[in-house]
Amino acid sequence: MASRAAERVLQHQVVVLGAGLAGMRAALEAARAGADVAVVSKVFPTRSHSTAAQGGINAALAEDDSWEKHAFDTVKGSDYLGDQDAIEVLCREAPSDILELEHMGVAFNRKPDGRMAQRPFGGAGFARTCYVADITGHAIVHTMWEQLAKAGVRVYDEWFATSLITDDSCCRGITAMELRTGTIYTIEAKAVVVATGGLGRVYQPTTNGLICTGDGMALAYRAGAALQDMEFTQFHPTTLKNSGVLITEGARGEGGHLLNKDGERFMAKYAPNRLELASRDVVSRAEQTEIDEGRGVDGCVLLDLRHLGTKLIHEKLYQIYELARDLAGADCTKEPIPVRPGMHYQMGGVKTDANGAGTLRGLYAAGECASVSVHGANRLGGNSLLETVVFGRRAGRAAAEWAHEAPEAGPLSNAAGRDMERSIRELAGRSSNGDRPAKLRWELGTAMNSLAGIFRTGEQLAEGVKAVREVRERYARVGVRDHGRVFNTDLVAVLELGYMLDLAGTMVAGALARTESRGAHSRRDYPKRDDANWLKHTLAVYSPEGPKLSYATVTQTRWQPEERRY
Ligand code: FUM
Repeated sequence: MASRAAERVLQHQVVVLGAGLAGMRAALEAARAGADVAVVSKVFPTRSHSTAAQGGINAALAEDDSWEKHAFDTVKGSDYLGDQDAIEVLCREAPSDILELEHMGVAFNRKPDGRMAQRPFGGAGFARTCYVADITGHAIVHTMWEQLAKAGVRVYDEWFATSLITDDSCCRGITAMELRTGTIYTIEAKAVVVATGGLGRVYQPTTNGLICTGDGMALAYRAGAALQDMEFTQFHPTTLKNSGVLITEGARGEGGHLLNKDGERFMAKYAPNRLELASRDVVSRAEQTEIDEGRGVDGCVLLDLRHLGTKLIHEKLYQIYELARDLAGADCTKEPIPVRPGMHYQMGGVKTDANGAGTLRGLYAAGECASVSVHGANRLGGNSLLETVVFGRRAGRAAAEWAHEAPEAGPLSNAAGRDMERSIRELAGRSSNGDRPAKLRWELGTAMNSLAGIFRTGEQLAEGVKAVREVRERYARVGVRDHGRVFNTDLVAVLELGYMLDLAGTMVAGALARTESRGAHSRRDYPKRDDANWLKHTLAVYSPEGPKLSYATVTQTRWQPEERRY
């Protein structure tokens, strides 16, 4: 690491934004490849949202399973919008990445014969989800953090990224605010890996933590990178009544049933072969239909685990046992848990190739903030943790190689840092009677939930475009009450809201334009998939007037689109 301290300019070869699983895996690989790498994260690494992942991580490990079967399930789950070359990489490399995690120290659950246990998950033709009870993300994050510390990677934790610096369509570094002091720094880098996770807080409610505000996606978009397939938002079938907290798919994987108010296992009507283990888009739509048609229970359906027995629940599903007990007052060993579908994951993100390279030179992305695209229109459970390690590793390696090979571009001026300092000072010093950021955030989230939800129509989406525009107009006068610079969470909330508004704009624009139903994008006015016109990716590029949309080809290697049945 080098620095020009007086100018608040730091230098590293590779900067990774985000310290969740994708970010840490990328940083570790870049360090292994000999790069001087730094991680910048707005939270301490073990507080990253990857920690909240519950049910598991997929890999074809069993003798009668194969990467091809895993790939086919993923292609079908994606409703044929996933790029098949990238899906092949994901599934082929999964087993060695899982074994590496195990060698790092992740204590995966075992079968009695000592081999790794795997549970069935939705949309998968095989039990291929490896797990650590229902705390898989927590276990992997802590192990990965140990590896990062062991490798001596520099971590700027509690630093908030404020811009990507570009020069001649090449990413040259970032500006970031050290939250402890409010100081703006420029970090010069040959390569930047964006790994800031999801944007779940664009919706209200969501399973995502408060920190999931899409920061890296928005920064890449503002810097000119293309975002891909932003209209595809996943609603997880089992989120807890009221709080919207995640209740893992592992509960259905272990044999849990979904019931309506009449005690009927309604999935038999919607997915007779796979029942509760159809893909998430199918199960969420089925639940919403039951609720909308009056067969729900207080706006929910019921997840019944009683028949699994207390021993299994306590051994493999203890976290959700506690969550249901503490947040919904339901003891799932004795009564069903009230659940409903809720926003969980963003399939779209920064468009990358299979090495994480974005559409700007020197810019890479991995994890939920990226669109490789392995999830297409609907992600399979257990494939997101997998994506973080496979594509985090590949992006870290590619970024380090680029950093070694890229021509010297000369020292970066600190103009970007000085401009950012001016605009942050103006924002923090602003006295405004405008709305509080929390109010606007709530209005944005609830509008997105009702207008760009599980089922959508053109009319609702046009309303959604208008709602985002209106919140944006009020955002221009948003009030910042804390005028200081030390741990100014008020200021950070305003900056995050700006990121979320940019992303929400791409989501509703893409959804309004896509006049078909595919995967998680379900239009009541266009109920059928339309391969002739819409088997293509949506690209959104920033313009001051709003997102500019264009379309790109889906890569197909060996699987032709078929009707999806579960
Ligand atoms: O249900 C879950 O445990 C979530 C898994 C995932 O999103 O991959």
